[in-house]
Formats: sequence, structure tokens, C-alpha cells
Amino acid sequence: MRIAIGSDHAGFPMKEIIKEFLSGMGHQVLDMGTHSTDSVNYAEFAEAVARAVASGKAHRGVLICGTGIGMSIAANKVEGVRAALVHSEYTARMAALHNNANVITFGGRVESPEEAKRFVKIWLETPFEGGRHTRRLKKIEEMEEKCKEG
Ligand code: RB5
Repeated sequence: MRIAIGSDHAGFPMKEIIKEFLSGMGHQVLDMGTHSTDSVNYAEFAEAVARAVASGKAHRGVLICGTGIGMSIAANKVEGVRAALVHSEYTARMAALHNNANVITFGGRVESPEEAKRFVKIWLETPFEGGRHTRRLKKIEEMEEKCKEG
């Protein structure tokens, strides 16, 4: 899979670890920055990764800030993106199984690297269940349409 990854300064060390982990799993990784621990604004990187996923340039996206919260708020502003903030193996699995999340976010200051790797692996390896969940996701798409109409 082609996976876009991004972080702010707080998520940068974790981004480097997860990047290597994803490459080791055989994925092609698109690093959208940031590239150091110098202070930046997370929305910029959330937008880059979210747009890459929404346009099809990447199949999935991973976003890391201090908590994962800002990244999830920002990424979900891009139409077609379903960004899930995960904080446990259960939420990582549900993000794929029920929400068909095409982006996950988590906190570089919250999770350990080992936890984060487990969440990413579970999310990537869990299929979407479909069925009633497709109907629910359709409702979100309808919301996006309605918001565009004003
Ligand atoms: C940066 O200090 C921090 O606010 C940011 O990484 C993130 O946690 C925001 O949601």
C-alpha cells in the first residue's frame, strides 16, 4: 500500500519510527513532513496527508501530533477523509472494522512506539465489515454534500 504520513514537532520522533516500521512491512511511505522538532502548526501536515488520501495519491494516511487530537480535527475537514483518533488495540481495530477509517491519528506524547506500531498494524490488517456500517458512512457522505450546499 502507499501510505502518507505526517506529523508536527511533537509527533516527529514517532513519525520517524512508524515510517521505518511501515517500510519494513513492505509499504511505500510518502513522508509529508515535518522534518524536525522545530515548532510547526499541525493543521498544515494534516491537510497534506488528508489531501493525498482524498485524491487517491495515497491509499491510507497516518498523522501524529502530541495527542492525535488536533490532527484528527484537521484531517476530517477534507472531504472523503475518515480520520480516527486511536488510543488502544480495540479502537485501532474498530477504526477499520466499523468506521473504514482511511486515516488514523495518535499521540506521539501519549503512546509508546511499541503501542503505536501495534495500532498501525491492527488498523492496516483489519478489513471493513461493511453491511450496516456502509449505511452509516453513507450518512456522513450525505452530510458532506449538505454542507457544500449550505
Ligand atoms: C503541540 O504542542 C500540541 O498542541 C500538538 O502536537 C497537538 O497535540 C494538538 O492537538
